[in-house]
Amino acid sequence: MLKTPLARRLPVWIEELGQIGRTEADGLWRTPYTPADTQAQDAVAGWMQQAGLEVRRDAVGNLFGRLPGTTRPDEVILTGSHLDTVRNGGKYDGGLGILAGIVMLAEVLETSGRPARSLEVVALVGEEGSRFPLAFIGSKAITGELSPEELEIRDAEGISIAGAMRGVGLDPSRIQEARRSDLRGFLEFHIEQGRILQDQGYPLGIVHTITGIRQACVLVDGRPDHAGTTPMTSRRDAMLGAAEMVLRIAEQITALGHPAVATTGRLQARPGGVNVVAEQVEFTVDFRHPDPAVLERMAAMIRGTCEEVAQRRRLASTLHVFLEHPPVPMSPEVQAALQASAEELGLKALSMASGAGHDAMVLAGRIPVGMLFVPSREGRSHCPDEFTPEGEIVPGLAVLARTLHRLATV
Ligand code: GLV
Ligand code: MN
Ligand code: MN
Repeated sequence: MLKTPLARRLPVWIEELGQIGRTEADGLWRTPYTPADTQAQDAVAGWMQQAGLEVRRDAVGNLFGRLPGTTRPDEVILTGSHLDTVRNGGKYDGGLGILAGIVMLAEVLETSGRPARSLEVVALVGEEGSRFPLAFIGSKAITGELSPEELEIRDAEGISIAGAMRGVGLDPSRIQEARRSDLRGFLEFHIEQGRILQDQGYPLGIVHTITGIRQACVLVDGRPDHAGTTPMTSRRDAMLGAAEMVLRIAEQITALGHPAVATTGRLQARPGGVNVVAEQVEFTVDFRHPDPAVLERMAAMIRGTCEEVAQRRRLASTLHVFLEHPPVPMSPEVQAALQASAEELGLKALSMASGAGHDAMVLAGRIPVGMLFVPSREGRSHCPDEFTPEGEIVPGLAVLARTLHRLATV
């Protein structure tokens, strides 16, 4: 199915990249502007060179490999994904899309020569928000949406994005230079991160919509009291209020059915004493749905539940939404190009929503964007068990190469 000898390097590269940023718990934690990130960028730059690509790094630290077009070199079709990982994440989320892009640019060159438009593969910086509480750093810089104020956002050690950039030789005052006006399309190759393809027996997924995502922080205020002397009936226990809220939200969202999801991944109690009734609890809710009307209903439901529980338990609660991404439809033209390529290769592809967020949702505001999924073993992702065997990656690579060639031939 694939001609370039470089395609055989892909499993080796996945393993090599999968060693950079290893945690003691067998996973990866590779975050922007850290030594692991620099090491990974150097490795990826070397592989881009092996593939015959022109390598450059932009003002925010995104790394590009370019195959210049013949007649329209100033029009660029971009592929790739992010180089960072969640804390204790796996080897495939993000990394696969970059490595697949490198080998498939070499494949296009080998099988058809340079197309009219330029093809580029990118290793994007900071998609996950797992060091700084800001996702999509690299893609937002490309669209010109990364603001100087956002560069002041700090990590857990108090280092700002701007400070971290300086630490790796980047000048934060120049981020506007990362903005691109020559992009004509973006195609992100990614693992599904769920189990729909595996369960329904499809080798490929073509994304029609990236789910809408909101993330909120709920603060529950009660009263601190002595754990030994305060009767259960006279407490205003913020912990019990938060516990009931978390459970009620999960029950209500479960009742809506898939793909409605809500997650509390972080909860902190204050003052945090073993023998003190909790005065204040702060927890997060990440909730998602690809239909904007349902997402709105979920938001109202979550807010209403917190208010009702707080009132009944004589607590106060506030809910602050700190991240809001509406559902993002993918370009019909790119979906059709992917579908046509899959059909030519005799492969079945499922049209599906993405439950995960991706840089593609940022770029979709500006240019035609599409996403191609390959299956994730048991749907596991954002954990060290993330895995897709080579045999399940190759069909996707073939469709990726064909579609890149299609989009770059005008
Ligand atoms: C990113 O991976 C997300 O969906 O949160
Ligand atoms: Mn991820
Ligand atoms: Mn990802």
